[in-house]
Amino acid sequence: MDRSYPVDALVALGARALEAAGVPSADAELTAAALVDADRRGIASHGLLRLPLYVSSVQARGVNARPNPTWVREHGAVAVLDADAALGQVAMAAATERAAQLAGQFGVAVVAVQNSTHYGAGAYWTERLTARGLLGILTSTTGVTVTPFGGVEKVLGTNPLTLAAPSAGPASLTADMATSAGAYGKVVAAQNEGKPIPEGWAVDADGRPTTDPTAALAGALLPFGGPKGSAVAVLLEALAASLTTASYAYQTEDIWANRSARMNTGHLLLAIDTAAFTSREHTERRVADLQEKVRASAAAGETTFAPGDIEHAHAQSHAETVPLAGSTVAQLVELLTSLGLETTPLEP
Ligand SMILES: NC(=O)c1ccc[n+]([C@@H]2O[C@H](COP(=O)([O-])OP(=O)(O)OC[C@H]3O[C@@H](n4cnc5c(N)ncnc54)[C@H](O)[C@@H]3O)[C@@H](O)[C@H]2O)c1
Repeated sequence: MDRSYPVDALVALGARALEAAGVPSADAELTAAALVDADRRGIASHGLLRLPLYVSSVQARGVNARPNPTWVREHGAVAVLDADAALGQVAMAAATERAAQLAGQFGVAVVAVQNSTHYGAGAYWTERLTARGLLGILTSTTGVTVTPFGGVEKVLGTNPLTLAAPSAGPASLTADMATSAGAYGKVVAAQNEGKPIPEGWAVDADGRPTTDPTAALAGALLPFGGPKGSAVAVLLEALAASLTTASYAYQTEDIWANRSARMNTGHLLLAIDTAAFTSREHTERRVADLQEKVRASAAAGETTFAPGDIEHAHAQSHAETVPLAGSTVAQLVELLTSLGLETTPLEP
């Protein structure tokens, strides 16, 4: 059963666990805050559920606790960051800051990242742009988990796509998703909780459709939206990895299987300064108009959400405390105990 815990306590315990593994405190806090924010937004698949993986990957040196990220290319509105196997959150904090600065200067910015790792929920990063009146488009490679439409062999990652626009309304307009039918973390969460996954999410190792999360993880996830979704997923893989020396998913040894694997994850972030086109106020009003039209499309008595509304509402109602699944709490208690840390914040 889910229980709720104070946000501050969860960020602090996440940071302590990462610090115990050797991550400097500022990077540990930044990463823990990003994970807890996903839980606040109701994206448990990218919340503290990931912390044991992050910590064990740092311990096994698949993730570099003390990286030296370097800007390897700088060309006008383009910049390329080699993250030196940093936590993806550390890489993305630098990438979003750079993208915002370049977009302010040039009206648009394209920042690519190579040699990175998992950055968590994409919307956490695009929110940093929309809060400044910028549009953001973000994608990434991941571990190899997805077979393209018509295939059985895993070739692609769950390649997240985040498209975000600032709004004059209460929430940015944010489409943030895995391009697999279900996010990998949701399959892991279903496995942890002993629940089936929806039909159409995966095939087993023999290529047969399955709703068993364990069989799905041994087999392959499927792209969302049939051949069209598969086409998008393939292109995102190319965008996230072909501009840099980042690896394609099929060239990686997945860190879930081997914590010492260097993922060489690639990210691509585009930022567009609305003020370079008309004005920030104009774009934010236009975006709010569209959100309102989408919401108003519901049948009488029903609710229709604009992209990002559900996560925004969840975050608003969980500003102070955040629910965690019992299986996640059990894994966190085990992690903290193994690190010799207090488990008090998680005790009933
Ligand atoms: N870092 C990585 O490697 C990686 C990889 C894959 C996914 N992710 C992240 O996983 C997270 C979850 O992805 P997901 O595919 O499970 O997302 P999801 O299916 O929960 O939501 C996808 C989108 O659909 C919208 N949506 C959902 N339900 C809706 C409804 N009833 N009405 C209107 N809109 C609705 C949401 O606002 C969201 O924009 C994302 O934050 C993504 O960035 C990260």
